[in-house]
Amino acid sequence: MANISIIVGSMLGNAEYVAEACEQTLVELGHQVELHFSPNLTDIEQKNRTWLICTSTHGAGDYPDNIQPFVDQLTASKLNFDHNQFFVIGLGDSNYDTFCYAAKNIKKLMISKGSKELIELLTLDISCDIDPEQASQDWIIKNQDQLS
Ligand SMILES: Cc1cc2nc3c(=O)[nH]c(=O)nc-3n(C[C@H](O)[C@H](O)[C@H](O)COP(=O)(O)O)c2cc1C
Repeated sequence: MANISIIVGSMLGNAEYVAEACEQTLVELGHQVELHFSPNLTDIEQKNRTWLICTSTHGAGDYPDNIQPFVDQLTASKLNFDHNQFFVIGLGDSNYDTFCYAAKNIKKLMISKGSKELIELLTLDISCDIDPEQASQDWIIKNQDQLS
């Protein structure tokens, strides 16, 4: 079983609810989980090597304010992420040309740092009639074999 840090990027709370739903499912699957609503690279890097990044997109393809400092730390970091692994859930609205750019960009950033993507990015379109929490939980259960 894995020790998983959930790193949250959220302005209005939607991605936060999704992150909490994911936490519940991951714990039920037997994983140890920590949620980070004000993520700080120094805290997270030393503890867990499996990260779930759960972020919405704001502005015109921008990161939510609470995760921007973490992205800046990660961008500047000289740490070796070869032993780190991650997966990303993005929340967005497909009426924007910049649909889920924050999730797509942090995925690229993680790969550029040497981290390994465990499960292909999930993007959730809130303009569709979906339940983002349920969709994320179903996605984790479907892909649970990638996490052991
Ligand atoms: C001012 C504003 C700008 C937004 N910009 C984008 C965007 O560029 N791309 C996108 O996919 N969604 C965009 N969205 C949609 C949000 O990502 C979506 O509402 C999401 O559910 C918000 O999640 P949060 O409550 O966790 O912040 C925007 C929403 C607002 C209110």
